[in-house]
Amino acid sequence: MTLDVRPTASAEEFAEAVYAIAQYFGGPLTDERRDRFNAVLPFERMHAAFEDGRIVGGAGAFPFEMSVPGGELRCGGVTVVGVYPTHRRRGVLRSMMDAQLRDIHERGEPIAALWASEETIYGRFGYGLGAWAGEIRLPRTWNAYAQPFERRGATRFVTPDEAAELFPPVWDALMRERPGVFRRTDAWWKLRTLRLPDEEAAHPKRFAVLELDGSVQAYAIFRLHSDFDFGSSSSRLQVVEAVGASPAATAEMWRFLLDVDWYATLEAELLPLDHPLFMLLATPRRARYQRIDSLWVRLVDVGAALSGRAYAGEGSVVFDVRDAVCPWNEGRWRVEGGVAERTDADAEIALDVAALGSAFLGAVSFAQLRDGLRLEELRDGAVGRADSLFAWRPLPWCPEIF
Ligand SMILES: CC(C)(COP(=O)(O)OP(=O)(O)OC[C@H]1O[C@@H](n2cnc3c(N)ncnc32)[C@H](O)[C@@H]1OP(=O)(O)O)[C@@H](O)C(=O)NCCC(=O)NCCS
Repeated sequence: MTLDVRPTASAEEFAEAVYAIAQYFGGPLTDERRDRFNAVLPFERMHAAFEDGRIVGGAGAFPFEMSVPGGELRCGGVTVVGVYPTHRRRGVLRSMMDAQLRDIHERGEPIAALWASEETIYGRFGYGLGAWAGEIRLPRTWNAYAQPFERRGATRFVTPDEAAELFPPVWDALMRERPGVFRRTDAWWKLRTLRLPDEEAAHPKRFAVLELDGSVQAYAIFRLHSDFDFGSSSSRLQVVEAVGASPAATAEMWRFLLDVDWYATLEAELLPLDHPLFMLLATPRRARYQRIDSLWVRLVDVGAALSGRAYAGEGSVVFDVRDAVCPWNEGRWRVEGGVAERTDADAEIALDVAALGSAFLGAVSFAQLRDGLRLEELRDGAVGRADSLFAWRPLPWCPEIF
């Protein structure tokens, strides 16, 4: 077989390439869905794998801007990666990853990020587990805050059109606060976050804002899935997304959600480990927080990526980077004074680029990577120094699977 990978160039090619992932999830790709998706993912950011002229796989990359410690970087937001079941395990994914990473590099996006359907897929392509997320299931009985709390703000429902005006500034505040947040375009807000699909009409998304000290400082998107169990409510309140522009606003928004009547269990997903809720609640154990991996991060241009984030501490460290897929990253890099430069100095830490991706947003420490056999410490104390440079709070949070 001859395999050729290139970006799609028409609506037909785009649809056939996206159809690869639709074999596994998301359901059939109607013209309407294709057009909606195409509004956030241009043809040229969707790669297709052609076998003898027929499409057998696809891989997309949203043109994101993503918050990183102390700033923002352009980022390939890798998505809808799939290979037709008829063509699995013949190297189609490998060819697509290769072409896509080269494309991301040529476009000058120093990093790539993705949500993995399975943890075993992307490490070999240089992606490292770079953020954690978790879900909670909190029975209403246990919704009290630990400290006395008086609500000062006012909550009200808004229409999708109003939400399109009021939500983005709050999201932007989150981007300034935390690494791992990607900027949503107007089309993204309208066609994804705020759209009310017909198939969800039975339990639609509700949009609420919190006004505090004269301005909108938090919003929530939630659904109520009503049900009864022998006459008593067994309803679930699903918090799709709740974001505050300040700790006070976050506390108020969650108090509102926790106080909604008639749910038996409040459910929320994708919360970071250091979400304020875990200190607000009197009984966080009852939330049964369960952790999974969130973003996988890939340094596509090691120098630009490491120079594009801020560092909390002083000092320097020399890495010897291995990168089997993007050879331009290989070799020794010194990080000092907020800049990464090539160096001939002795390496202090040897590691694969995937391990550097894990440490990049601050969620995984170099000590964890060393103890997990993901790096070699070549000079005593280098791991401690790297950690004092790279450590960052708050932890990264990507509130949406893309
Ligand atoms: C995951 C998927 C894209 C892999 O495609 P593929 O063309 O079969 O993969 P390749 O043949 O290029 O495999 C490349 C390497 O990855 C490995 N690999 C592929 N899929 C893997 C998986 N699910 N788990 C572990 N390893 C996997 C292969 O064994 C191969 O390893 P090697 O280089 O050491 O020989 C494909 O199985 C698929 O479409 N799965 C369902 C959709 C999905 O999960 N997509 C990812 C969305 S985030």
